[in-house]
Amino acid sequence: MNILLTGGLGYIGSHVTVVLAEAGHHVIILDNLHNCKIEVLDRLAKILGNSPAFIQGDVRNQLLVESVLKDQKIDAVMHFAGLKAVGESVQKPLMYYENNVGGTISLLQAMKSCQVKKIVFSSSATVYGIPQYLPLDEKHPTNPESPYGQTKLQIEAILQDLARSDQSWKIIALRYFNPVGAHESGLIGEEPNGIPNNLMPYISQVASGLLPKLKIFGNDYETPDGTGVRDYIHVMDLAEGHVCALNYLYNNESEFSIMNLGTGAGYSVLELVKLYQKVSSRKITYEIAAKRAGDIAACYANADKAAVHMVWKAKRSLEKMCEDSWRWQSRG
Ligand code: WQD
Repeated sequence: MNILLTGGLGYIGSHVTVVLAEAGHHVIILDNLHNCKIEVLDRLAKILGNSPAFIQGDVRNQLLVESVLKDQKIDAVMHFAGLKAVGESVQKPLMYYENNVGGTISLLQAMKSCQVKKIVFSSSATVYGIPQYLPLDEKHPTNPESPYGQTKLQIEAILQDLARSDQSWKIIALRYFNPVGAHESGLIGEEPNGIPNNLMPYISQVASGLLPKLKIFGNDYETPDGTGVRDYIHVMDLAEGHVCALNYLYNNESEFSIMNLGTGAGYSVLELVKLYQKVSSRKITYEIAAKRAGDIAACYANADKAAVHMVWKAKRSLEKMCEDSWRWQSRG
């Protein structure tokens, strides 16, 4: 099938491109290059043996999207394009609502006008907010703490209302937990702009000497070792979940579904640091710092729904996540 990936040169989108192409799909990437490098296209060509189709542009350009949908005879869309820095969203909420919600509405309007009505949406576990119980299943209340999380939740609501209004739509929202790691070739991976906000890229840059030391944000949480616990999921497991989601759209009646993509296991900051030191044979110097505003103690998934309905389960270990992250970070 012809699949349009908005934001397809980004961290998640580029890995999904690999698994879709390897599954025999024809991938077309639309990306405005706001948060990624054009070099990713060449690296994808090295992995796949040929370059995916690429159009530089923004999902908010409805006429462009309509022309891509028609010219490329798109069968389904995977929507990754959007801003994703939690802290930045607090400082610049309008930019996040305009980009993420506005951009999605524009994309959906273009899809509607071209009668393309299958979409997989990149959502986030951040929509759950502070857990009322763990593990988090899809029925858990949603109460995002940041404008970024709010944009994801509002987009889910838009998609649900759209599916209710016209049952010919087939829509799935995938709530990612903490994607980490890289393709085992070491050719693509996470490339945050500037100083990383997230733990794994920060640790990997300390291991490579790019950063002097890690600040561990709090060690007195109600967790086994006092540091934050998260559900880290290998980006390739996450990517394979998107192929399963696409198959689900074609083989199931439901117009709108939400699925968690997580491993179901939680690991602490200190556990990750220890494992990364083992995998990289590098010392990860750290200091305990104050808790980060908005952080929660623990968050991990109940991923049973995806296992039952999409026959998908994460299979790569935390050690494999660290190994593949280190190979990417130390690629030279
Ligand atoms: C993980 C743990 C920190 C950095 C975020 C977004 C979420 C999603 C994934 C998009 C926490 C600790 C971190 C550091 C640290 N992104 N930490 N020192 O906050 O769970 O989720 O990324 O969808 O929306 O909120 O991930 O990697 O930032 O933090 O101690 O320098 O590592 O306190 O316990 P988080 P994270």
